[in-house]
Amino acid sequence: MSNAAENVQEQEIDLAGANQVIDKYLDMKGALMPVLQGIQEFYGYVPEPTVPLVAERLNVYPSQIYGVLTFYAQFHLKPRGKYIVRVCMGTACHVKGAGRIAGTLEERLGITHAETTEDLKFTAEYVACIGACGMAPVIMVNDATYGSMSVQKMDEVIAKYKAME
Ligand code: FES
Repeated sequence: MSNAAENVQEQEIDLAGANQVIDKYLDMKGALMPVLQGIQEFYGYVPEPTVPLVAERLNVYPSQIYGVLTFYAQFHLKPRGKYIVRVCMGTACHVKGAGRIAGTLEERLGITHAETTEDLKFTAEYVACIGACGMAPVIMVNDATYGSMSVQKMDEVIAKYKAME
């Protein structure tokens, strides 16, 4: 559920890490992108409270920062799970039952597209064709690709990652 993500956001964020990142790039021209990338690397996402800090220290408008954060898919404004489960929703996968695979994920972990489990272990993402149509339906967990998915295989993959730290 995304509730967990919201709860984390409500917690105090220690801005020391963000300040350190900003210190590193402060005198650089075009510092905004590397600063935001550095902050995401540090926290795993870009916490909202870091936005006014970056705005003030780099002398840019917060709206400008949100513009960058929402334009580039690489940035995330919510905490994400350790394992990103991408379910391909491209045509070939759709025809071969991607909906059932997504449904299984939703049933087992209680998350749908762009949601993260409360323990911050899994994030679900429904994506367009990932270029492995011959193995449809396909999912990816971080960098690992799993093809010819069935409900049973989905259960196995979920169990495998659940058992991992
Ligand atoms: S449609 Fe799923 S990999 Fe191409």
